[in-house]
Amino acid sequence: MHNSDKTILKALPLVDIDFMNKTHLEEIVMVKKLGGLVTKYQQSESHSETEIDQITLALQTWLEHMQAHFKREHELMDKTEFPSVAIHSDAHTNALARISTVLNIWKQQQDIQYLQDYVFKIWPNWFKDHVNSMDLMTAKHARKYGFNEE
Ligand SMILES: [Fe+2]
Ligand SMILES: [Fe+2]
Repeated sequence: MHNSDKTILKALPLVDIDFMNKTHLEEIVMVKKLGGLVTKYQQSESHSETEIDQITLALQTWLEHMQAHFKREHELMDKTEFPSVAIHSDAHTNALARISTVLNIWKQQQDIQYLQDYVFKIWPNWFKDHVNSMDLMTAKHARKYGFNEE
């Protein structure tokens, strides 16, 4: 993978609810930081325990952030009686299952190639599509419902 292919989302896809955008931005910042660690790891010849642990920690922190992110969206869907809650929730369940697998594989094998694909390709594509569909609809619905962030 060329470094030029290693841009994690050029722009943040925006929705109508500010707290969602804020969470999404936080997540992108977090993934970019992890992306930096992955690239550094690939460039060095020997890998210290510290380097491995840094990546493990970054993945774990990301997973926890993702759990909190989805929980807040679930609360919003509940409060505003979003009709497609099941589809949106399923998408979150699958995303969490995927990142858990990525974390476990990293812990067991330190397969940097596998992690690179997830961080630079699979997740950004998923995220962009997800925000532009499920999150966009959820936010639009919440606004129409009269949800007020204050
Ligand atoms: Fe979201
Ligand atoms: Fe979502």
